[in-house]
Amino acid sequence: MAGGGQLARMTQQAAIALGVSLRVLAGAADDSAARVTPGTSVGDDRSEADLLAFAEGCDVLTFDHEHVPGAHIEAVEASGVPCRPGADALRHAQDKLVMRERLSALGAPCPAFAAIPDETSLKRFADEHGLPLVLKATRGGYDGKGVWVIKDLDDPAVAELLASGTPLMAEEMVSFRREIAALVARSPYGQGAAYPVVETVQEGGICVEVIAPAPGLDADRAEEAQRLALDIADKLGVTGLLAVELFETADGLLVNELAMRPHNSGHWTIEGARTSQFEQHLRAVLDLPLGSTEPSARWTVMANVLGGDDPDLYSRYFHVMAHDPGVKVHFYGKHVRPGRKIGHVTVLGDDLGDLRERARHAADYLRWGTAMKQHTAAVKEHTG
Ligand SMILES: Nc1ncnc2c1ncn2[C@@H]1O[C@H](COP(=O)(O)OP(=O)(O)OP(=O)(O)O)[C@@H](O)[C@H]1O
Ligand SMILES: [Mg+2]
Repeated sequence: MAGGGQLARMTQQAAIALGVSLRVLAGAADDSAARVTPGTSVGDDRSEADLLAFAEGCDVLTFDHEHVPGAHIEAVEASGVPCRPGADALRHAQDKLVMRERLSALGAPCPAFAAIPDETSLKRFADEHGLPLVLKATRGGYDGKGVWVIKDLDDPAVAELLASGTPLMAEEMVSFRREIAALVARSPYGQGAAYPVVETVQEGGICVEVIAPAPGLDADRAEEAQRLALDIADKLGVTGLLAVELFETADGLLVNELAMRPHNSGHWTIEGARTSQFEQHLRAVLDLPLGSTEPSARWTVMANVLGGDDPDLYSRYFHVMAHDPGVKVHFYGKHVRPGRKIGHVTVLGDDLGDLRERARHAADYLRWGTAMKQHTAAVKEHTG
């Protein structure tokens, strides 16, 4: 697996159970996955030489992020090591404009969009679709970095973005009811498997909570989302996992973006489904039969733990575990930085309101510790 982040780390947990020797190409020896994977090479997965050297002797190469250049992936394929997903499929998770163009051609529902090479094209788009609009860097964004809501074309930030040389695209500002995600797997053999569709809650562009299954989602709409994701996986020739982030609007579903790897919206599957997304990804890239996606409880709630000011997360385990023995804590072994995703918690059961409360409490406490009370009070005061 190219990339040594938390997705590779959790894939290693699944690989251990399967007796599969996962090797990881990590940027540094203390990367999240490098700390727990004996077969780690330290190198730059955006360097063709490093990638080729790493892939030598592997049965198959896969990725924990989408930033490996397509040409390098093709070079690895040419050296005889299959890459899953392949460069052709992965392009659609690397470049939002490529993704929009292809999905629109396939008839998948998307927000209105356009490439924005200059001010004129931006003005034209705003005239046609109104303000606010959403500007996006076509490549390299994550956790909302690379997404800007534009309310006023005269905002100096707009001119700055246009002058920055970042390839940009515009999208209409979708007024959605909520965001949902459909996670599927597809193997080279052509087998597909779909997980229950989930609701994802974002704050400040970062996913903070996932509810499985999405509460109150109409059965027909859930099936529509699953079929859409399976169909995209098939048409794009995806091998491995495909997460399709969707907007649920009053008029139906719209695709937001694609990820071709284990995804934050699928962390709940570790405890909440018969087969975790990490095991499923391994099965799919190894062309093994896929596992059951059956949920293990009526509801599963996952909350991301973001970094706070204090790096000593472990000291907070005592309270969280004593307070609620049903909470499963996952920590990624990453350096704590304010706002960075450093872990997650999962709870499952029958009472959704109770589960959400418990997940939130555990995640907030891990982030803030005993400062949480002041934090909660400050938020209440701020939001009235
Ligand atoms: N066209 C749109 N209309 C309204 N909101 C949008 C639109 N596009 C994106 N957003 C909001 O911004 C968030 C981040 O956008 P997007 O998923 O494209 O960026 P990203 O940084 O690549 O995402 P990720 O955090 O999944 O890596 C979305 O989850 C959604 O809340
Ligand atoms: Mg996204």
